[in-house]
Amino acid sequence: MIELKQLTKIFHGKDGDLRAVDGVSLHIREGEIFGIVGYSGAGKSTLVRCINFLETPDAGSLRVKGFGTVEIRNGAPVCLPEDGGEAVRLGEKQLKALRRDIGMIFQLFNLLDRSTVFDNVAFPLRHTGLSREQIRARVLELLDLVDLRDKVNAYPSELSGGQ
Ligand SMILES: Nc1ncnc2c1ncn2[C@@H]1O[C@H](COP(=O)(O)OP(=O)(O)OP(=O)(O)O)[C@@H](O)[C@H]1O
Ligand SMILES: [Mg+2]
Repeated sequence: MIELKQLTKIFHGKDGDLRAVDGVSLHIREGEIFGIVGYSGAGKSTLVRCINFLETPDAGSLRVKGFGTVEIRNGAPVCLPEDGGEAVRLGEKQLKALRRDIGMIFQLFNLLDRSTVFDNVAFPLRHTGLSREQIRARVLELLDLVDLRDKVNAYPSELSGGQ
């Protein structure tokens, strides 16, 4: 479940401020597949980057089930835990912890050209404390999920765009 209320993100550039996300409110139910459609530059990626904590909004609030509610207090983002506990200021350390548990497929794939499909999927798992065997099991499970088990030893240049 994701709920946004009046979410706003402003980029401060040399040519002035750019309101990339302007007061967006929406509610996405658990398990719902939700598309965001709009012209190039409309702010879709910025909106998604706010939802997965890669960007912090400038105003409004954002609630992601399992993560809590992020809102802006005195100009700084804080996270209110779901259990009703005390608000935590969202510094780099807190953001890193939130980001670890939320996945994103980027518009540009950011694959390592010289690594196999296996090593590309294994890469972010390397410093998580999992053993080699646990990483191997997880990578194969994920490749099964997207039906790419047979490409485990292929390189990115040997895959189709969709793959
Ligand atoms: N880091 C940034 N700094 C300054 N401006 C940015 C930044 N990222 C995006 N923008 C601007 O914010 C606006 C929204 O960009 P965004 O990437 O969210 O668009 P989009 O809807 O995903 O577009 P596309 O369909 O082309 O991917 C654009 O005008 C873009 O130039
Ligand atoms: Mg985009």
